[in-house]
Amino acid sequence: MADHWIENHKRDSWRRQAKASGYRARSAFKLLQIQKRFKLIREGDVVLDVGCHPGGWAQVAVELVGDEGVVIGVDLDPCQPVEGATLLVGDITEDLTQDRILEELDERPINTIISDISPDITGKWDVDQTVAMTLVADVFDFSMKLLCKGGSFTSKLFQGIGVEELIKAVKPYFSEVKRFSPDASRNSSSEVYLVCRNFMPWKMNKGVNIRKTYESLLEPKLSGSEIDDGPEEVYSSFKVRRKRE
Ligand SMILES: C[S@@+](CC[C@H](N)C(=O)[O-])C[C@H]1O[C@@H](n2cnc3c(N)ncnc32)[C@H](O)[C@@H]1O
Repeated sequence: MADHWIENHKRDSWRRQAKASGYRARSAFKLLQIQKRFKLIREGDVVLDVGCHPGGWAQVAVELVGDEGVVIGVDLDPCQPVEGATLLVGDITEDLTQDRILEELDERPINTIISDISPDITGKWDVDQTVAMTLVADVFDFSMKLLCKGGSFTSKLFQGIGVEELIKAVKPYFSEVKRFSPDASRNSSSEVYLVCRNFMPWKMNKGVNIRKTYESLLEPKLSGSEIDDGPEEVYSSFKVRRKRE
């Protein structure tokens, strides 16, 4: 009970700070803390913000890239405008949305991809976990090929089955892949971000498909052919949202 109270108190404190600083969401502090640690976004960068609603990360990204930079956000839900950013509405896995992003990029390579994407949940943990991790793999598949040499990709992860396999699937293409849990995230849901730095495009051949690699690495675990050491400790990091009627 005491732990629960402390966690709620911390969350409220981030919320109050977000309000006082003009950020739309306390999640802005997560990106600021990721930035402080890894220096991902630089002045003049082209940034893609995946799952950008309500716009907290986009606000931070615009401040960091400055006047010469470009921030393109995308979300299923429409955002209030953020000055200096182009915020698109659409599903990142759909061709139509991907074409809109490509149009906005106008052939500029991306320096930094930041993804805080969280799918709607059904409440069935195993289903939600699978959907969430597959979505992260899909985001890699669409956007990684748009990254410039030396670029970075940061994504929220859904703790539990599949994390190790996803890391294995993306590791060959970055010189550094780390997990990071910002203080602003340290709540009972134990949220983690995967920070991949220094993209090495020459390691990607045409046929690279992160989702397929991820699923084939996961297959033995799901089919039970791996020796199980017992139940894995699992935390959910989903934002609980009602399904739209
Ligand atoms: C935790 S919120 C992002 C908060 C944001 N980083 C901020 O600071 O304001 C996660 C977002 O992912 C979006 N999302 C989920 N699935 C998506 C999809 N397939 N395509 C685009 N956005 C999606 C949700 O609509 C939700 O707004």
